[in-house]
Amino acid sequence: MKKILIPVLALMCGFQPLMAQTEVSQAKFKVGDDPAYADPAMNDGQWQTLDVTRTWDSQGIPASTKLGWYRLHFNLDKAMLDNADMKELVVFDLGPIDDADETYLNGVLIGKTGIIPDKDNEYASAWATHRRYAIPANHKALRWGKDNVVSVRCYSGGEPGGMFETPAKVYVPSRLDGARINFTDTKDAKGQNVVTINLTEMYPVSLKGNLKVELTEFPSGEVVNTVNKTVTVTDKKPVNITLPYTQDKNLMISATFTDPKSGKQITSKRSLKYILTPAAPESPRFNTAAIYGVRPGSPIHYRFGVSGVRPMTFSSADLPAGLTLDPSTGALSGSLNDRGNVTFTVTAKNAKGTASQKFTIAVGDKIALTPPMGWNSWNCWGLSVTQDKVLSSAQALIDKGLADYGYAYINVDDGWEAPERAADGTIVVNEKFPDMKALGDGLHKEGLKFGIYSSPGDYTCGGYLGSLNHEKQDAESYNSWGVDYLKYDWCGYGREHAGEADRGTMASYVRPYLEMEEFIREQPRDIFYSLCQYGMADVWKWGEAVDANSWRTTGDIVDTWPSVLDIGFNAQAPLSPYAKPGHWNDPDMLVVGKVGWSNNLRDSRLTPDEQYSHISLWSLLASNMLIGCDLAQLDDFTINLLCNNEVNAVNQDVLGQQAKRYVQDGNTQVWARPLADGTYAVGLFNLGEDVANIGLKPYLNQLQALIPGITADRIANLRDLWRQQDVPAGATWAIPPHGVRLFKLTVK
Ligand code: GAL
Repeated sequence: MKKILIPVLALMCGFQPLMAQTEVSQAKFKVGDDPAYADPAMNDGQWQTLDVTRTWDSQGIPASTKLGWYRLHFNLDKAMLDNADMKELVVFDLGPIDDADETYLNGVLIGKTGIIPDKDNEYASAWATHRRYAIPANHKALRWGKDNVVSVRCYSGGEPGGMFETPAKVYVPSRLDGARINFTDTKDAKGQNVVTINLTEMYPVSLKGNLKVELTEFPSGEVVNTVNKTVTVTDKKPVNITLPYTQDKNLMISATFTDPKSGKQITSKRSLKYILTPAAPESPRFNTAAIYGVRPGSPIHYRFGVSGVRPMTFSSADLPAGLTLDPSTGALSGSLNDRGNVTFTVTAKNAKGTASQKFTIAVGDKIALTPPMGWNSWNCWGLSVTQDKVLSSAQALIDKGLADYGYAYINVDDGWEAPERAADGTIVVNEKFPDMKALGDGLHKEGLKFGIYSSPGDYTCGGYLGSLNHEKQDAESYNSWGVDYLKYDWCGYGREHAGEADRGTMASYVRPYLEMEEFIREQPRDIFYSLCQYGMADVWKWGEAVDANSWRTTGDIVDTWPSVLDIGFNAQAPLSPYAKPGHWNDPDMLVVGKVGWSNNLRDSRLTPDEQYSHISLWSLLASNMLIGCDLAQLDDFTINLLCNNEVNAVNQDVLGQQAKRYVQDGNTQVWARPLADGTYAVGLFNLGEDVANIGLKPYLNQLQALIPGITADRIANLRDLWRQQDVPAGATWAIPPHGVRLFKLTVK
């Protein structure tokens, strides 16, 4: 059993306390349940040894085990207490435990999380909760300078089970170790934007100190509001201060809490949601690409994306035979049998004016001539998705105006399948999805599209039924429900793959996707074929060969900057050559708005500037634009982020050329792509933690690889796409940490 006394540097905003801790990564373990196991005098020498950083089932304990006891031995050096600046508490930090625990120190209960079921209590899981049990430093059970036994009674409600993730630690926290400052920006009852500064204390101590809050304008630093007051925070009573703010400026909020006893401080800083996209005109404006690909005879489900006040009427004097245009929604339906391009003009009219678009339907073998735009249920609802939730997001897509910007796919991810197929092998929906055909029909009526999810394996990632050995039947079911998009996720296929004689070869990775391609393409409708296998075997090199319309290039995205950095900036850089109309690299769904992968939704943890960078990069990359949040709860910031017609036009550009990274200069990166009208989209990113004052001029040399002979005096026009304003080509801009300027560059 490893015992070490090490000083660790707990990195927190504003100060670095030096705190001593004792850490163990191994424990004695026994399956079963006996109160005597809490007794420090009990001899556990014969028990087996387990690593507490890995669940018990990964160490030979049967996965079906319900109850087991860990015994951890700590020799606690009194110096740990004597040297601390706050001698009030000792914390036993056990990491997460799967699922419920009761923890004893030398036979005395010091904490429990979740509920271990018995005759009086129903089981409650708390597997993800980090256990930090704090006790007073003069607690009678503590034995300084001696062996201390921490006995953990652990109940597992299902696989896996036990302690995992981190070694167990004992430490004496310093003052402010347990204090945190967070911000949330929301609207109050009157519709005013407000930011709440939330000061919390994790441990049972009371801290009285000064809280200074400052709201400043970026980049001038001008102070627009301050609060300076003495507050007391305890683990039971957080401090909340709410300030009004407006979203037409880029405001930074900073809050500092100072502890007068130690002079220590913690500081948090963040930019608040701010809106760059100018308001759309009230008169009609077409916001979507003027081309649409369809196979001969396939039903067309398309909705013209037009902003402007409603009611609006749509008409076309030269609508081709076989097509119908709904005059009130702009939904186009019908089908065209003959190959070739058909061009016609659509006019939208409202009380404020009229606009027209010359629109081409390319009837042939290619669909998805521009990247798909829409919504997917995964990043918000995870497996808790239901038909009602899908319908409410579809309704919001229309009501909140996203459909006016081309967002059209409504995709149900994992979690819709029943536990068993019908007797004839047909896939069946579960009780959360009462009627798939009605769902598809309802979406089509609005000119929207319907997407679904499955796996080539026996089971999906979420443990639902996959399509293995039922590929043809499933493709036929999808056709009968009106499915327009299939996300086909490797997952359970890993088991099949492991048994294949040629496993690991490219052919073995291609096989399951080739098989489903045949059945998907046999259907008398167009189904966007979306591969999801996380980039294995360089899927971008053969995705087109299985007629995939897009392929995921990485593992799953989450709503953090490191994730956007890894998946977006690092992984996509070499992939530009593989994207083209009909076949796109997919760096995963958008992590904006309210996400949570469950019923517990929260604001994306990306800062506003990180979200501007995320959308700018995904536009440059010609990525799938599938929104992963609850659309019913969209706020003004997120709507404006997703509905900037000039930014979206980069993503939807019909040339379909994915941006390349031309500059990597410290924290500055420049990505650029050519556009169909002969101009270029250029993103100037600041990936650093500090403000950067940068311009394009120093990087024009490197951009010559894309724009032959480009120099400052050959720039005819530079347009800031987020602000929709022309800007001086030679300027420099103060770009916030993790922020961006996205331009359209016109050459003389
Ligand atoms: C993952 C996939 C996610 C989501 C999930 C569903 O493999 O990458 O996007 O579809 O499965 O269980």
